Amino acid sequence: MEKAELVKEAFQAREMAYAPYSHYKVGAALLTKGGKVYRGCNIENASYTPTNCAERTAFFKAVSEGEREFEAIAIVGFMDGEKPDPEVYASPCGVCRQVMREFTDPKSFEIIVASDEEHYKTYTLEQMLPESFGPENLLG
Ligand code: THU
Repeated sequence: MEKAELVKEAFQAREMAYAPYSHYKVGAALLTKGGKVYRGCNIENASYTPTNCAERTAFFKAVSEGEREFEAIAIVGFMDGEKPDPEVYASPCGVCRQVMREFTDPKSFEIIVASDEEHYKTYTLEQMLPESFGPENLLG
């Protein structure tokens, strides 16, 4: 799948964001190695801490459906009612990076941060989460 197509899916995922407190709406589109796309949005909570990021929503949806092999995730985030600034990207938070670490190969899993279908940057998880702690530390 083309990166631009995955970015488009992330924009569609963002439409479902529930962000009445921050008004910052995020969408993520997670591509499996089998070619399926799982969408996720941020889901906020009046008690704040139960808030779930878009990236984790996408991962938890996919893993709960039996998926374990992932290729890439596209992420878009910007304020409700505003246009995305092409120079500014929504970068995944540390907790979401650690969740990605659990289910992906950090050297090859791609994180695509996008402001629109023409403006995006791609990083490996290893670039975004160097010297990480993962399943091998416990399972060998
Ligand atoms: N958020 C995400 O969904 N993903 C990120 O990587 C960063 C933050 C959400 C959480 C919260 O609903 C809002 O953005 C503001 O932090």
